[in-house]
Parts: sequence; structure tokens; C-alpha cells
Amino acid sequence: MAVNHKVLLGISGSIAAYKTPDLVRLLIKAGCEVKVVITESAKSMVSELSLATVSRNVVVSDIASQAQWNNHVALGLWANVMLVAPGSANTIAKMANGVCDNMLLACYLSARCPVMLAPAMDLDMFEHATTQKNLAILKQNGVSIIGPASGELASGLVGQGRMEEPQIIVEQILRLLKGKQDLTGKHIVVSAGPTREPIDPVRYLSNYSTGKMGYAIAEQAAKRGAQVTLIAGKGGDTFAHKEVKTIWVDSAEEMYKACELEFEKCNAFIMSAAVADYTPETVAAIKIKKKDDEMQIKLKKTTDILATLGEQKKGQTLVGFALETNDEIENARGKLKRKNLDLIILNSMRDAGAGFGTDTNKITVLDKNEKVTHFELKTKKDVANDILDLVAATF
Ligand code: CTP
Repeated sequence: MAVNHKVLLGISGSIAAYKTPDLVRLLIKAGCEVKVVITESAKSMVSELSLATVSRNVVVSDIASQAQWNNHVALGLWANVMLVAPGSANTIAKMANGVCDNMLLACYLSARCPVMLAPAMDLDMFEHATTQKNLAILKQNGVSIIGPASGELASGLVGQGRMEEPQIIVEQILRLLKGKQDLTGKHIVVSAGPTREPIDPVRYLSNYSTGKMGYAIAEQAAKRGAQVTLIAGKGGDTFAHKEVKTIWVDSAEEMYKACELEFEKCNAFIMSAAVADYTPETVAAIKIKKKDDEMQIKLKKTTDILATLGEQKKGQTLVGFALETNDEIENARGKLKRKNLDLIILNSMRDAGAGFGTDTNKITVLDKNEKVTHFELKTKKDVANDILDLVAATF
């Protein structure tokens, strides 16, 4: 159950604030860590002591105190999600207009995470054109609005304005944080990183691949609900993810064996590893000593893993990578055909921000119908999701 989401709960002055200790309790039960920021008017509707006790954190409210003056920045950076619940008409109006006269609003303006808002007010206040306009502005600014529900209101009137039930708010937060689950039920295998071709017991041939692109694909595929196996070459960056089964390999030969075993049972195979094309013909049993001014190592071709999988393909989506320095599209198209791929992801060494070791990538994708799609320079996480969107479209 440990999900470790960090929720910053902003409580504003609506009578529904009395439900927030229960909301905090449910969030914690769902595996979240919760910090509370409260407005002055909300303090008369719910006890700070109750909130501090259930959240196991100090409740924050004073924007001008010396001890807390820069807390809005720290809290805004800390949170994975900010939830304003209940959101009073007044707080909604201020949020929509960038007013910053209390700690909750300062946190809202500083937060880099997604923001959710559960409005709660009397029905006429909710229906008022100004409130509706403010909510429309917030929606346009990316705030997700939860509710309000209809029912009996504190005023005795009946209509829309009740804060959504805490249980429903928690479900919506968890759904938002989980993201789309379009790969549920699919088994995706990703290869990543370099291979190391042994020369003797202390030396090997390798390349500059860090594995970052493949790791990002594995991570995002798991996040989108897929069962993921990562076959990773040693020598790149480290990787650990509790939902990704990771098989570490050394040489191209080891990678080939691991890929063969995994290929049969998968729905998609994404080969982002930088596999050595050649490996030493013989591996010295003992360390090679320095002798002449020159030395030669005879290399033999490795198995082309992707081409072999392409021959064995029985309905799996097979994705390859091509890192090119020239004639990029032509070379990539040749590899797509030769290796019987469904998609090939092309990186050009001529593009700034693409290639080994960077946190960004710029890709062009060719599919088996010769369609060419160019993408902008993006983070590897976003590139991973673009690739997975294309893979998902093949299922
Ligand atoms: N690949 C593979 N097995 C190899 C070499 C490459 O599976 N022995 C895969 C890579 O993981 C990549 C794709 O094939 O997904 C293209 O790799 P690349 O090195 O660009 O292609 P090559 O066919 O080796 O052609 P060249 O090196 O001549 O450009």
C-alpha cells in the first residue's frame, strides 16, 4: 500500500472544513504523507490540533512569521499534489486572480505540482457568474476541480455546493497521481545501456551509453500499468525500480540470451540497448601484458539481436533504435526493413541535446508503413511517453 505521495492540503474557510481531519486520515491510510496549510477563517471551523495530530505534521498558516516566512516555497516544492479542500468562494476568487495574502495562496502560487480543488459553498454562491468565471480560469490554468456534490447544505438549502465526500476526493487524487493506465495487461520488455565485451579478466570494449533512455521507457511503461522487464547492460547508470523486473547482463552474447528468453512472452519489445557489433574473437584467460608498441585484437561479429527477434516475431510489436551521424532517415529506414521492425526511433548525433548521457532527447520515428514523425527536443521521460503512445497504438 505504500505509495508515498506527498499531499499538501490547503484548508480554507468553508464549514466543510470540519470534514478535513477525516480527509487527512483517509489520505494517510492510502499511503500519502500529508502537510496542512490553513487560512485564518478556517481555523474557527476545524481544530489545528486535530489536523496536526492526524497528519503527524505541524499545521502551517502564518505567512509573516520569521520561522515560516519561506515555507511556501519549500512546501510548494515538497508536494506531489496540492489539494485545496474545502475551497471557499473567497479562496477560489483569490486563486483565480493571483492574490497572495495568506500562506495557502502563497503555497498555491509556488507549487510546481498538479493542483486539485474541491469547492464548498452555498448553492447561490457556487452558481454565481463570478464564481463560475473564477472556476473556469482555474480550470484553464490546469487546476482539476472535484465536485462539488449536490445535497443538503449547511444553510438548509438543497443544491450543488457540498464539498465532495473525502473518500471520493482521495480516489480522484490517487487516480490523478497514478496517471493513465493504458498499458495494463501488457508485458513490455526494454533493453538498455551498453554491452561490455571482455578482452581479458581486467579489460573490456564498450560504448558511452548510460541507459537513461531505456530506463525512462521502463519506468514510464510501469507507471502506465504494464508488466515490465528491463534487460540492462552493466557499465551505464544504475537503475532500480520496484515494479520493473531488471536483468543485468554484461556482453552482447549475454544480452542476446536474455532477450531470447523474454521475447516469446511479451507484447512489445523495445531494444534501446547499445549492443556491440563486434566482440574479441578470443578472451585471454590471464591479463595481457604490455609488450610491443602496437597490439591488435581480432574481433568477430556479434549476433544482431534485433534482426534475430525480427525473424522470430509472432505478433509482438518490435521497436529498434538507430543512432546516426549522416543520411539518418535512409539508414533508419534500411534498419526498419532489414530487422522487420514495427517502429524505429531515430536519434541524430547532429541534434544538440540528443545522444548519450543527456537528460533530453530529440527523436524521429519511422513506422513500418513508412510514416515519418518528427518530435521536438524533450526530456527523456516525455520522449519515453511519446514512444509508448506509439507502441500502445499498435496493440
Ligand atoms: N542491435 C542489436 N544487436 C546488435 C546490434 C544492434 O539488437 N548486435 C540493435 C540496437 O539495439 C538498435 C538497432 O539494432 O535497436 C540498431 O542498432 P545500430 O547499431 O544502429 O545498427 P546496426 O544494425 O548495428 O548498424 P550500424 O552499426 O552499422 O549502423
